[in-house]
Amino acid sequence: MKIAIHPVQGSFSDYWIKYCQANEIPYKIVNCYQNNIIEQLIDCDVLMWHFYHAKAQDYLMAKQLLYAVSSSGKVTFPNFNTSWHFDDKVGQKYLLESIQAPLVPSYVFFNKDEALEWAANARFPKVFKLRGGAGSVNVKLVKNRTHAIKLIKRAFGKGFKHDSLVPALDLFNKFLVGKATLFSVFKGLLRPVKPTLFSKIHGKERGYIYFQDFIADNDHDIRVIVINEKAFAIKRMVRKNDFRASGSGDILYEKELFDDKTLKLSFEMAEKLRMQCVAFDFVYQAETPMVVEISYGFSPVGYGPCPGFWDKDLNWHAGEFDPYGWMVEEVFTDR
Ligand SMILES: Nc1ncnc2c1ncn2[C@@H]1O[C@H](COP(=O)(O)OP(=O)(O)O)[C@@H](O)[C@H]1O
Ligand SMILES: [Mg+2]
Repeated sequence: MKIAIHPVQGSFSDYWIKYCQANEIPYKIVNCYQNNIIEQLIDCDVLMWHFYHAKAQDYLMAKQLLYAVSSSGKVTFPNFNTSWHFDDKVGQKYLLESIQAPLVPSYVFFNKDEALEWAANARFPKVFKLRGGAGSVNVKLVKNRTHAIKLIKRAFGKGFKHDSLVPALDLFNKFLVGKATLFSVFKGLLRPVKPTLFSKIHGKERGYIYFQDFIADNDHDIRVIVINEKAFAIKRMVRKNDFRASGSGDILYEKELFDDKTLKLSFEMAEKLRMQCVAFDFVYQAETPMVVEISYGFSPVGYGPCPGFWDKDLNWHAGEFDPYGWMVEEVFTDR
């Protein structure tokens, strides 16, 4: 059994490679962007690639390559169940509704008149989201009906550019605490005039509109990640004068911050979703956890300080752990 790994610095692959080396698992480095990638995989049984939602090339071909490879009988990470809805909150709405997960009530329209009719009767505030994006960049509070109508007209008119909502302020705050470079702040400021390659290739978001009920009084969200029947979690505080936590960079890790109800729910949903790796983002209505989105991918840097993990019986295992090694172990059982 040989694993092909597409390396991306700072992604899961750094750890996959170390895990394979430490455990003497045969692996080979491949380049998924090359024309002969299928030939490169001939002597491999598994392809592992932590592809990224906002990289232009990945957006163009990552899912197509992974699904083609898995159709030929090889195992991929991520596999189809894990990735088809990645960076697609519309797909996630259908999926989470169909497994009866406690998704925050979500509304999607592909017709302007239906959207306007909904807005005429809806209670505000609501949350507006593009179907893709991370770090809260494409998520906005809609305070009233007038604002909703404006967004609906734009969604079915000139549409939304991907970069237009990128908050340069976020980058600046990260710069202040040493989590971003001054260069990235300047790049952020330039985005509205100098779109990224991804934004140019992806084009505008239009022809649909997506809203969620606004779940008030959350000064944080909770992210629980489940991989191979094990879970770990982080608590992310919202930005100052804002309701949005993801991307704030203000993260807490202590075990006591996470309740059994949320963990149990995460394990139950993960089992139904049959994903190799899933991160659930939760907000709370009173004490009840509600899912705002799911994702297979996450940035390893944010999770290093996690002090331990839970198994599926909710037993706590204190100490360092290697969730990326769990992914490699999992591709063996996927066979
Ligand atoms: N319906 C909602 N009600 C209240 N807060 C929300 C809601 N949806 C999202 N949030 C907040 O906004 C943040 C970003 O939303 P999310 O859907 O997770 O987008 P992203 O993909 O950018 O992380 C979340 O981390 C959460 O703090
Ligand atoms: Mg999120």
